Amino acid sequence: MATSSTPGKIILFGEHAVVYGRPALAVPVTQVQATVTVSSTDSVTGSRNGMDFREKDWQARIRIEAPDICLSTELSRLAPDHPLAAVTRSVFFTLGIDSPPPLTIHITSTIPVASGLGSGAAVSVALIRALSSTVHRPLSDEQVNTLAYEIEKLHHGTPSGIDNTVVTYAKPVYFVKDQPIETFRVGAPFTIVIADTGVSTLTKESVGDVRELWEADKTGWEKVFDEIGKIARLARKMIENGEWMALGPLMDENHALLQQLTVSSPELDRLVEVAHRSGTLGAKLSGGGRGGNMIALVQKEDAPAVAEALMSAGAKRTIITQIE
Ligand code: PMV
Repeated sequence: MATSSTPGKIILFGEHAVVYGRPALAVPVTQVQATVTVSSTDSVTGSRNGMDFREKDWQARIRIEAPDICLSTELSRLAPDHPLAAVTRSVFFTLGIDSPPPLTIHITSTIPVASGLGSGAAVSVALIRALSSTVHRPLSDEQVNTLAYEIEKLHHGTPSGIDNTVVTYAKPVYFVKDQPIETFRVGAPFTIVIADTGVSTLTKESVGDVRELWEADKTGWEKVFDEIGKIARLARKMIENGEWMALGPLMDENHALLQQLTVSSPELDRLVEVAHRSGTLGAKLSGGGRGGNMIALVQKEDAPAVAEALMSAGAKRTIITQIE
């Protein structure tokens, strides 16, 4: 049996522009987690429920139980592009295992789905690790990250790879597409309140819409991406120097640029405004946008009051997290 847990994530700076080669900063959020347990469903006689293990289709011998999404089925019944099926098949393919043993995969997650907290990437990474450990062939972080990126393509279409990277390494990441992975140091811990609009969104759609804008006016939007990239680079320096209070205005600027990119929403803007009225140092949407989560930088002692104000303003849940 093998169990693996992975954190959620937030993007602090640089979403969307990161798809166009600019840097972005993302950090793990350990208050929410995806957990995958894989156990062998073996039997000395080679049969379970009358099923013969010599049966050719090994996928009929792998059960997937994911109660959070009401899924209880055999791998063979999932469509080839179903992310859980794709992960499982690609792990065994990568390991060169033609006929894996009978297994039960149990998946739970407290990471809200389709809300910018990296739930898809977290489940993929935990599943890759638990499966490969079960067959005593644990994959390296680099291999895990590469496989999870392939699965992200099913979720997102043209992902930058930031989600799978921060979740795999579970460290603050300064991410530039197609560049070696850089983690960064947090000079002094700081506090973020995450608030969920309750509006679930498809990153694929907002990324697609930004692409349409860009196709129509590449020169204009490249300038916006440059601005966002500049903010992300500056923010990294501030974080490393422990000057976290200076991040507030940078978050506000980044949010304004994301509004220009049309990826904010009335719900997100309202929570950002309420955060400002209740004492945040800066706030922005986080992730694909159009719904999902916003993040607000606060003094540690103000976090509960800001979280409460956000809940009163309609947030569906809040998480207070310490970035360190
Ligand atoms: O919605 P999320 O958390 O998966 O964030 C996606 C971040 C984008 O920059 C919008 C897309 C990407 O692939 O980087």
